[in-house]
Amino acid sequence: MARRVYIFDTTLRDGEQSPGVSLNVMEKLQIARQLARLGVDVIEAGFPITSPGDYEAVKTIAREVRGVTVAALARASFQDIDQAWEAVREAEQPRIHTFIATSPIHMRHKLRMTEEQVLEAAVAAVKRARSYVSDVEFSAEDASRSDLDFLCRVLEAAIAAGATVVNIPDTVGYATPEEFARFISEIRQRVRGIEKVVLSVHCHDDLGLAVANSLAAVMAGASQVEGAINGIGERAGNAALEEVVMALYTRRDQFGCETGIRTEEIYRTSRLVSSLTGMPVQPNKAVVGKNAFAHESGIHQDGVLKERTTYEIMNPQMVGISQSNLVLGKHSGRHAFRQRLQELGYELGEEELNKAFQQFKILADKKKEITDADLEAIVEEELRPVPVTYTLEYLHISTGTTVVPTATVGLKKGDELFEEAACGNGPVDAICRAVDKVTGIPCVLKSWGINAVTSGKDAIGEVTLKITENGGKTYLGRGISTDILEASAKAYVNAVNRLLWETGRLKE
Ligand code: KIV
Ligand code: ZN
Repeated sequence: MARRVYIFDTTLRDGEQSPGVSLNVMEKLQIARQLARLGVDVIEAGFPITSPGDYEAVKTIAREVRGVTVAALARASFQDIDQAWEAVREAEQPRIHTFIATSPIHMRHKLRMTEEQVLEAAVAAVKRARSYVSDVEFSAEDASRSDLDFLCRVLEAAIAAGATVVNIPDTVGYATPEEFARFISEIRQRVRGIEKVVLSVHCHDDLGLAVANSLAAVMAGASQVEGAINGIGERAGNAALEEVVMALYTRRDQFGCETGIRTEEIYRTSRLVSSLTGMPVQPNKAVVGKNAFAHESGIHQDGVLKERTTYEIMNPQMVGISQSNLVLGKHSGRHAFRQRLQELGYELGEEELNKAFQQFKILADKKKEITDADLEAIVEEELRPVPVTYTLEYLHISTGTTVVPTATVGLKKGDELFEEAACGNGPVDAICRAVDKVTGIPCVLKSWGINAVTSGKDAIGEVTLKITENGGKTYLGRGISTDILEASAKAYVNAVNRLLWETGRLKE
């Protein structure tokens, strides 16, 4: 029988530590719900001591998301652990995840603690966590650069103190696959009691080896893999979970393992995480990249047409990438729209469905063929949980190589319509300035990017941008349209709405 490998998702904790990523509570909840649908075993929902927002997010996820273990991270300190417990206690299956570094570099320079002090703190932390909950994970931070004898002593002591999962992080992405596999084997041989607990790995991608190291560890007997969707995370990121899962599945002949993941949910999860974090997925990214199943060379296309498996080792449908291209058009009705969304796995409430259908009709007037990717973009925009203060009513742009770009915007706030015009260095700049005049909030555009959702001249453009009010926190905005300036205006307004919401100024 296949050995079970547990999938521990840290998109909302380590993933959220990616530079420039900041998710609010509702966005985290939305991702957590999708992770539960994906079938991960553990959702690490956050690091509650670090901020009231993180605490709130963990608490909300613990209360709302069922059928999955919800973990909260804590340093090896009583204050952290107590706070983690408060945040996670309402979960159906709560876990406290406590950690302390065991490498000489970290102990000497960061912790300024001796080996004995670290060992003592680890044991005390695990005991404290166990006084609250029966599921306790202990991580030896920077394990892969630790002295193996000392690491084994710490792990053994943590298990004796009650840890039910011990995690071996390659915190700085330094390990190589063969070496890491040997390391895991040594730990399995040397640590008393290791067979009674789940042996986990947590690999970072500084050398691009996070997935390879995780898989090598599984070969060597690890039974939990930690990672993040799309591989996001601190610095170069964490092991990309979708890659780990698909490698374990596709090469089950090699690994002899199974996971509880519903692979058809992978693509949607990847898109949701990319959309809410504002971190694009590179086109050639394995499993979920736009080109992962695209065949450019004539020889390859010919091969795939004759027999898909000539050049495809995975079936795109298996990861939830729809094969159907032309789905709906201008004459399609609400019923067909709802049915196609259901086939794509979206269950929308009446209000959301109405709004999405309106957007669909607007798009269908501009674009003859509405593909599944277009539908996904529409629905994801509607599901974005930012309360609407302003909506873009209309936009007029005057631009060219010999004129000063000018934008006129009409924004609605409730039933009131506000109109302003402004000039700018370019049309996008002019739009931003005109919107600022309406809202009275001067913002700086920190980044702007566009992604074509589908191909062709009438493709939907998805603009993602970030703004800041006074050089502090950045706010993400997204907008879709077949017109990139309209998409930019929608994205900017969306970012302003988010700013107003997150700074508690909805009534302004
Ligand atoms: O990379 C790391 O060591 C971590 C630990 C907190 C598990 O993220
Ligand atoms: Zn990490």
